[in-house]
Amino acid sequence: MKYDVKNLKLAGEGKKRIEWANEYMSVLSLIRKRFSKEKPLKGVKVAACLHVTTETANLALTLKAGGASVILCASNPLSTQDDVAASLVKDYGMSVFAKKGEDNQTYYKHINVALDTKPNITMDDGADLVATIHKNKKSLVANILGGTEETTTGVIRLRSLEENNVLMYPIIAVNDADTKHFFDNRYGTGQSTIDGIVRATNVLLAGSVFIVCGYGWCGRGVAMRARGMGANVIICEVDPLKALEAVMDGYSVMPIGKAAKLGDVFVTLTGDINVLRAEHFKQMKSGAIICNSGHFNVEIDIPALSRMSKGKRKMREFVDQYTFINGKKLNLIGEGRLVNLAAAEGHPASVMDMSFANQALSCEYVCKNYKKLGKKVYKVPAVIDKEIARLKLKSLGVAIDTLTAEQKKYLASWELGT
Ligand code: ADE
Repeated sequence: MKYDVKNLKLAGEGKKRIEWANEYMSVLSLIRKRFSKEKPLKGVKVAACLHVTTETANLALTLKAGGASVILCASNPLSTQDDVAASLVKDYGMSVFAKKGEDNQTYYKHINVALDTKPNITMDDGADLVATIHKNKKSLVANILGGTEETTTGVIRLRSLEENNVLMYPIIAVNDADTKHFFDNRYGTGQSTIDGIVRATNVLLAGSVFIVCGYGWCGRGVAMRARGMGANVIICEVDPLKALEAVMDGYSVMPIGKAAKLGDVFVTLTGDINVLRAEHFKQMKSGAIICNSGHFNVEIDIPALSRMSKGKRKMREFVDQYTFINGKKLNLIGEGRLVNLAAAEGHPASVMDMSFANQALSCEYVCKNYKKLGKKVYKVPAVIDKEIARLKLKSLGVAIDTLTAEQKKYLASWELGT
């Protein structure tokens, strides 16, 4: 078995943390139990490019229980939990290629090693496996039944491949399942982003001016939680609908050009490049904290920040302080990479439970249905989505109502009115 992890001696700690997360992943545990009996993934090779966390470990073990062989690499150079990677190798005999802080070259080397196994299923978080295959490993498609994609940014890249008629195999957009983005993107990103900022800086949010760039599901979650901590939240948006929603949710909304001089903390979650750039850095107050919680480290123009600064000093574990010629200081967390995974532990297990239940069941779905699928981006089938919601409610001990026969009939008829 091949692997490349930081330190196998970390395995003991990683194993305990994997088990801890498992206790909060009730839906995935049920799937794992069924997979162990039915082996729906028997003989299937899965290459998974995901954030290597305790939750991902439990997904990988679920796929393995279903009969798959899994090779795991990181979907971000700074998100790997090295103790988890070590435990997966040492305690569970899994091939893992991921090290926190790996450089870009190593990151892609690891992706290529995963692809060298000639997988049948690709499981992506950000579409780097799919992009690498489509750019320079097209021959691998012959072995591929299909793939899955975890995140908004990845789905956008896949839709672009599909619209240009160059997508080479079917992919299930796990991100677009209701039991994924309504919960993971909103409550997961909401909590874990605040967690990352607070762990990295220990800043007091109460009374601060907190700028959220992007009011998608992730931005909504972060804004909601920052407000809950007592911050004065300002939303910056380009989409009039989302901006209007932010206004009616009670936030101040203004262009980043105006918000830049007001903010104490800035978070980008837009999926686009150079959202915070030189013209904004110029206006920011000394001591401002800047971070990103969108998938790629492109939302903050770090080269511009470097050019404008006379020096950079690492002030805390994940905080670089850039000092301008006039003495102004700006603090960047986690090198502009996902702050929740770089400086904290990512989303809590309880919410990843639903995301990864979607991954496991989508993987099974592709294995059973690949012959019927075209070269398209598919939604997670509604029955899977609803079943995950049902199981999650059950595990939370929440019962809900059912329609009476009369109510069902009413909903199915067009004749009945007032
Ligand atoms: N994305 C966000 N949080 C995550 C986590 N805890 N594990 C894997 N992927 C994530």
